[in-house]
Amino acid sequence: MPVESLFATVVYRARVRHRGLAALNADLLRECRQLRIDDAAGRRWSRSHYPGGYTSYGSVNRLHRLSPTFAQLRDLITPHVTTLVRKLRLDVAGRPLEMTDCWANIMPRGVAHGWHLHPLSTISGTYYVQTPPGCAGIKFEDPRLDRMMAAPPRRTRVPRAARIWVSVPARVGDLVLFESWLRHEVPRHPVRAERVSISFNYGWF
Ligand code: NI
Repeated sequence: MPVESLFATVVYRARVRHRGLAALNADLLRECRQLRIDDAAGRRWSRSHYPGGYTSYGSVNRLHRLSPTFAQLRDLITPHVTTLVRKLRLDVAGRPLEMTDCWANIMPRGVAHGWHLHPLSTISGTYYVQTPPGCAGIKFEDPRLDRMMAAPPRRTRVPRAARIWVSVPARVGDLVLFESWLRHEVPRHPVRAERVSISFNYGWF
């Protein structure tokens, strides 16, 4: 076909490889749950911004600087960010690209996280700590959507690369990375067991 694919949007998903990953996940899970107990400001913030769930986004959002467990996770994530940045051909010379924010998210059944992006960051992502069977994934939106004025709808059965919305499943031990301007949501978590994830931003500016 005499066409080329331009302006491709990259989403990165990898399994984190680490000998002690199961133990690290157990520690992360324990710390996330303890944080929910200790963090009254976060519970308050979550009531209005994350109804039914708990997130430390509005209260304790530099967990990589507070907890050696989260710092260890950061050290496992950073090489993946480097790989993605290389793939994207971003020129990040001259200044460090570092984890700036890192927070915990706990979703009981029925909790959703609406469409948003992460302004003023470079790379964002999530690491999955607990993903019960049937767990909600993360859904991405075609960033050109707001310009599609007279565009016809897509046929129903099309490859992922041609869809307007694409879901990436959440699986424990997986890492999903994307450029921070890419809109995403977590649809309603449909099962009783809690979905636990750790989200983060890497900033260059
Ligand atoms: Ni997000």
